[in-house]
Amino acid sequence: MSIRIARTTLTALALASLAATAAAQGAGKIKVGLMLPFSGTYAALGVAIENGFKLYVQEQGGKLGGREIEYVKVDDESDPAKATDNVNKLIKRDNVDVIVGTVHSGVAMAMAKAAKESGTLLIIPNAGADAVTGPMCAPNIFRSSFSNWQPAYAMGVVAAKEGKKTAITLTWKYAAGDESVNGFKEGFEKNGGKVVKQLTLPFPNVEFQALLTEIAAAKPDAVYSFMAGGGAVKLVKDYAAAGLNKSIPLYGPGFLTDGTLDAQGETAQGMLTTLHYADGLNTPKDNAFRAAYAQAFKLQPDVYAVQGYDAAQMLGAGLAATKGDFGKKAELSAAIQKAKIDSPRGAFTMSKAHNPVQDMYLRKVEGKENKVVGVAVKALADPARGCRM
Ligand code: BEZ
Repeated sequence: MSIRIARTTLTALALASLAATAAAQGAGKIKVGLMLPFSGTYAALGVAIENGFKLYVQEQGGKLGGREIEYVKVDDESDPAKATDNVNKLIKRDNVDVIVGTVHSGVAMAMAKAAKESGTLLIIPNAGADAVTGPMCAPNIFRSSFSNWQPAYAMGVVAAKEGKKTAITLTWKYAAGDESVNGFKEGFEKNGGKVVKQLTLPFPNVEFQALLTEIAAAKPDAVYSFMAGGGAVKLVKDYAAAGLNKSIPLYGPGFLTDGTLDAQGETAQGMLTTLHYADGLNTPKDNAFRAAYAQAFKLQPDVYAVQGYDAAQMLGAGLAATKGDFGKKAELSAAIQKAKIDSPRGAFTMSKAHNPVQDMYLRKVEGKENKVVGVAVKALADPARGCRM
């Protein structure tokens, strides 16, 4: 009897030890926390990011680093006031291994703070907040998208090259709008232009009429605007309805016309924007991505889908190096940092601050496409001001 008990105990111990070894080697499912906007003005952007992320995982047979993936989703509503609670639900309640999010810069800064404090890996698949790869940079924080400075600076260079001397800016008043204007101003003024007035309205307000009247009266050579999602649709339509598109070109980072052309229709035709993605790149990688995305989701991909796809590629690169083990933090971070990501946008590398170093395309709206016109600035790296890492 006592021998049987001893045997049973030994078997239980052996099984427990096997389970512990397997867990240490990361054999269970990976918990990915997707914190994205699934409601509000940026809802379509959140859905595209989720689709892109899942597409890459599916292409790897549903596994990264040899481990299956389990998703936990939070709708962040693009609301910075709820961001800390939302991200802590993922970190403390759900014990996720990695957080992927988000779209809105104000929400992303709260997420970066929580990620830095807890050491949880964070991959940002859109929000351009300069600070997260600037003063808040950290070994466990990466971005698969852009900094707000990057496409804005490129558009400033292009506007000056187009011979524009004066510009008015019109943006939402929050980090993304402010930083986008700063980037545009830097590129424009370095090349001989002058930003003569900066107009703002609170996020996600879309009452543009009074501001458009002010622009019509001031008659600048160009207008530069950061808007995205539902706000971008409304601005481009209102701008055309006011007749301003005939005399004063409306420029912006590509968010002004990406994923929005079905709704903007005629009103967006001919618009020039700058972004790290474009239609008509016609590379084998982009063609394959677009075909797979269209087949999987019955939708055309946009820049947000690409950023989601690349966030999964970055996580995959890290986990391949550690064989799925999140415990090897330094190895995981080093592998993502030195990966060359084979993106549909074109291959990119990571800066020391963990932001993509990438080409900024000049695009022109033709029909339902943001057709590539050329490269506005090649291999543009964010200056990462304030990053000490
Ligand atoms: C941002 O808040 O950083 C952002 C939102 C939508 C599109 C691009 C940037």
